[in-house]
Amino acid sequence: MSQFWKPGTERPQGRVVDDEEGGLLFLFGSHHSSSAKHGYASIEKQRQRLPVFKYRTAILYLVETHATTIIVGETGSGKTTQIPQYLKEAGWATGGRLIACTQPRRLAVQAVASRVAEEMGVKLGEEVGYTIRFEDVTKPDVTVLKFLTDGVLLREMMDDPLLTKYSVIMVDEAHERSISTDILLGLLKKIQRRRPELRLIISSATIEAKSMSDFFQMRKKRRETENKDHGPQVEPAILSVEGRGFNVQINYAEEPVQDYVQAAVSTTLLIHERESAGDVLVFLTGQDDIDAAVQLLTDQVQTTGKHSSGLIVLPLYSGLPRADQELVFSPAPRGKRKVVISTNIAETSLTLEGIVYVVDSGFSKQRFYNPISDIENLVVAPISRASARQRAGRAGRVRPGKCYSFSMALCCYTGIFSSDMQRDPATPMLYTEEYFLNHMPNAGIPEIQRSNMVSCVIQLKALGIDNILGFDWPASPSAEAMIRALEVLYSLGILDDDAKLTSPTGFQVAEIPLDPMVSKMIIASSQLGCSEEIITIAAVLSVQSIWISGRGIQKESDEAKLRFAAAEGDHVTFLNVYKGFHQSGKSSQWCHKNYVNYHAMRKVLEVREQLKRIAKRIGLVLKSCESDMQLVRKAVIAGFFANACHLEAYSHDGMYKTLRGSQEVYIHPSSVLFRVNPKWVIYHSLVSTDRQYMRNVLTIDPSCLMDAAPHFYKLQQSNHLLF
Ligand code: CDP
Ligand code: MG
Repeated sequence: MSQFWKPGTERPQGRVVDDEEGGLLFLFGSHHSSSAKHGYASIEKQRQRLPVFKYRTAILYLVETHATTIIVGETGSGKTTQIPQYLKEAGWATGGRLIACTQPRRLAVQAVASRVAEEMGVKLGEEVGYTIRFEDVTKPDVTVLKFLTDGVLLREMMDDPLLTKYSVIMVDEAHERSISTDILLGLLKKIQRRRPELRLIISSATIEAKSMSDFFQMRKKRRETENKDHGPQVEPAILSVEGRGFNVQINYAEEPVQDYVQAAVSTTLLIHERESAGDVLVFLTGQDDIDAAVQLLTDQVQTTGKHSSGLIVLPLYSGLPRADQELVFSPAPRGKRKVVISTNIAETSLTLEGIVYVVDSGFSKQRFYNPISDIENLVVAPISRASARQRAGRAGRVRPGKCYSFSMALCCYTGIFSSDMQRDPATPMLYTEEYFLNHMPNAGIPEIQRSNMVSCVIQLKALGIDNILGFDWPASPSAEAMIRALEVLYSLGILDDDAKLTSPTGFQVAEIPLDPMVSKMIIASSQLGCSEEIITIAAVLSVQSIWISGRGIQKESDEAKLRFAAAEGDHVTFLNVYKGFHQSGKSSQWCHKNYVNYHAMRKVLEVREQLKRIAKRIGLVLKSCESDMQLVRKAVIAGFFANACHLEAYSHDGMYKTLRGSQEVYIHPSSVLFRVNPKWVIYHSLVSTDRQYMRNVLTIDPSCLMDAAPHFYKLQQSNHLLF
């Protein structure tokens, strides 16, 4: 049975004994007196106003006495920014121990870490730090609160399988059920058995606390033996933080909208025209439609003229430069209205102050994997009802002087927006109520059940977990996906006949924090003598896009791209851009002139340096092939042979078919090979809109496929599976 904590009924008093440290003190009231830095008092008041503050003692008590504590609380109630600080204040970060707080998203990691550093009055990277892939802003022996992505914590397990340096690990945003969160939960459950002193906090906005608690429930026999040692209770505790909120009136579209980007823009303008002060948060799906909406909104404001002085339009998506992120969090100047156009990162991961209106497209980008065709795609798909409610809840969260009870009044509107919305904070939805009630799925599917399992399998293998099908998952992946992953890893030479990591390739791949196909390409390049070039390509592939694009500048940016275009395809084109950037002395003007994204190129430089360091560490040879692009092509094929496609002979519109699965695919318009349509290509990834598009495409000679993966292609051709 799980335990439910009712605040006020069992409030602990005074000292609570911690078996390891010999005593932890609950410091009522006076726990912040040590810092008297400038501006601290007002931040301190803000902290105390957060709903979670009332539960400070309860949280510390539960963490003290339970191995696992599950904390559920409304977005914005202070879970992420406050709980790690409470833990530190209570002494969980003494004696060289650290407190970790994981997030599924990189941008959230950076944002909350910098907020917490600010609240504590310390420099980011000192006492409070963060680590995301390719960026470590922590200081050994100084950092005690560490924010990191769940993926990074998984990687840390490769060096320290029991995560011994952490006293408490808070797995935040658990309701998102990202693939790394799920793997992490499975592994942490194992670690807990070996380290009873480790404390886990599982926190989220809408988690199904009961099912999470069942997952962390130990078997009865174990429980009995462990409780004898007077350690923490092994049964998870559940705490629900009562939130606060305002009435949000929801207005649905009367009819489904055709173009949700345009509809979102028009709705925002109507809000601006008719509604009282308050910022607007618009939910779209990704960088492309967000950039398009920012552009449209800016254009329409300029043409109509009447709004131009009052609106500040800001995008929010991962990969946004730090300076732009900060703008999103800072309040709009007096008399101005801020419009933040965001991915679902603002759904629960980040709280923006001052939002009064939410415009919800009803869509997000989601990963879908089909184990039959072995195709994984990012698809713009309808969100779940749970997400829709969360998004609506972002309206009017932090406006003082309003009623603190949260309720949603559903009401049907004629049209997307109506002037009846004058009185309450309102949420115009770009979908109909009928759709919301009858068609929208209730909750999302955990990512692990809609993802390719290749990376996950390698990580578990590298951690010595051989029986992957028997692993204790919070939600089990499908057996088909697992078999497909084993098959791909076997063909890449990463797993051997006994499904163990090969030496050295398998172990080297596991050390590189990239998709295994990219890692395999890097390892092959070391053998082929073109690792300098391939590492550049891998770095470019790890950023979203190195090109500047957008409505209105398409022609110019396409022309600029042609200056670098290589007949071989996008990968070699990237090398040309990198060379140009380097020769310009890494100049931002050069980037601007060539429609190359300067921030993306800086990131490429950083990632490249990190990859070189990793390559050296795992014994790869760093060497340039100068201009022998044949070698570069061979290395790419060594990693990506499974993504080979050929042009359909009868096709007039550039239709390709994948060699495995015979899926119809097309070259993406952003590729330099768009409309060139060479006969044989391999692609790096697929995106799905009206069609399946191949992004980052390279021409190949099909005979190279047989050389790179004879086993794979021979068997594919005779229509047999690999196992
Ligand atoms: O994690 P949870 O959603 O419960 O809340 P939180 O992220 O800890 O946020 C608590 C408060 O801190 C909210 O009122 C936010 O507006 C504020 N905050 C902020 O001002 N800037 C940030 N970068 C993060 C949080
Ligand atoms: Mg949070």
